Amino acid sequence: MGEKWVLMKTAQTPTNIAVIKYWGKRDETLILPVNDSISVTLDPAHLCTTTTVAVSPAFQQDRMWLNGKEISLSGGRYQNCLREIRKRAREVEDKERGIKIEKKDWEKLHLHIASYNNFPTAAGLASSAAGFACLVFALAKLMNVSEDESQLSAIARQGSGSACRSLFGGFVKWIMGKEDDGSDSLAVQLVDEKHWEDLFIIIAVVSSRQKETSSTSGMRESVETSSLLQHRAKEVVPKRTIQMEEAIQNRDFASFAKLACADSNQFHAVCLDTLPPIFYMNDTSHRIISYVEKWNRSEGTPQVAYTFDAGPNAVLIARDRKAAAQLIQRLLFYFPPKSDTDLDSYLLGDKTILKDAG
Ligand code: ADP
Ligand code: DP6
Ligand code: CO
Repeated sequence: MGEKWVLMKTAQTPTNIAVIKYWGKRDETLILPVNDSISVTLDPAHLCTTTTVAVSPAFQQDRMWLNGKEISLSGGRYQNCLREIRKRAREVEDKERGIKIEKKDWEKLHLHIASYNNFPTAAGLASSAAGFACLVFALAKLMNVSEDESQLSAIARQGSGSACRSLFGGFVKWIMGKEDDGSDSLAVQLVDEKHWEDLFIIIAVVSSRQKETSSTSGMRESVETSSLLQHRAKEVVPKRTIQMEEAIQNRDFASFAKLACADSNQFHAVCLDTLPPIFYMNDTSHRIISYVEKWNRSEGTPQVAYTFDAGPNAVLIARDRKAAAQLIQRLLFYFPPKSDTDLDSYLLGDKTILKDAG
């Protein structure tokens, strides 16, 4: 091997939003959850991470830049992902450029990683999900890893739990698994993105500020102090997961909306039941819930489902294009742009609106 070459791969991974939430770990290091969860993967054109990974004999150490700023890779999560992928690295050859990396070379070669999120980081829009899924996927590409998506999902899981669900499109289930070593805690695709094409997802960015309590520390505090979390994990989610899978299979929007809204509300109830209580939603989030609930009731059948992750931003799932158009009209009526120039930042693409309305 000469010293002058750099080999690079780029990957793009969308974020995912849970409709049955993961909140609580039974193993902090391996990131094993206390319940199954189900999510929908967003359109990669809208909210996604782009990560480029590079390897060169000239690199002195592993380094990473997130949104242009260097971050430390010393945390266990990054180290776990790098180690698990390196273990599975295989020979790579670029004949045109005369580059050959043998399996054993990967142990001593260093990596440079640059990652960008095209949406707010650490604001409750699952940047850790898109981020770690993309990191693992890009590294697997670079190192010619032969594992399938589910096996890669178990590695991404060790970066951030929700990341395991971003390796597939459509609706995805993270099976909590039974084994202590985490080998059966991985994601599977329930249906692909073509299964339920009527759905429209609109993200109302209430605030793009970084949240005060990260998901990791928030759920740790909930596990330690909330008895509602125990009840939820053992009694509620197992039944709800089965019902949600049925609703998705049957494209039954009424059941889907009922279950997704109830699950989001229970997750935030667990946050309130935590000591000290965690408030991820704000007044604007609560107003959005009230408006959607009222509208759904007045129509007799749900038009829109809402779900909020660990942050104030609303993820609104409309049953079809017509409901989505009405929803956008209503949101703009209730939260009018403060000035003409604001309008640009309100309308972030066709599926993302209301930047910083709160
Ligand atoms: P979110 O709700 O956005 O997922 P979290 O608190 O779960 O917030 O995680 C945010 C953390 O995830 C960031 O502080 C960073 O450590 C990590 N992260 C976010 N984006 C990326 C990325 N593109 N690549 C690697 N790690 C990322
Ligand atoms: C509310 O996956 O961000 O978004 O595993 O500690 O990285 P770590 O937490 P993370 O938690 C996500 C919580 C949630 C619900 C969900 O995505 O299922
Ligand atoms: Co996260």
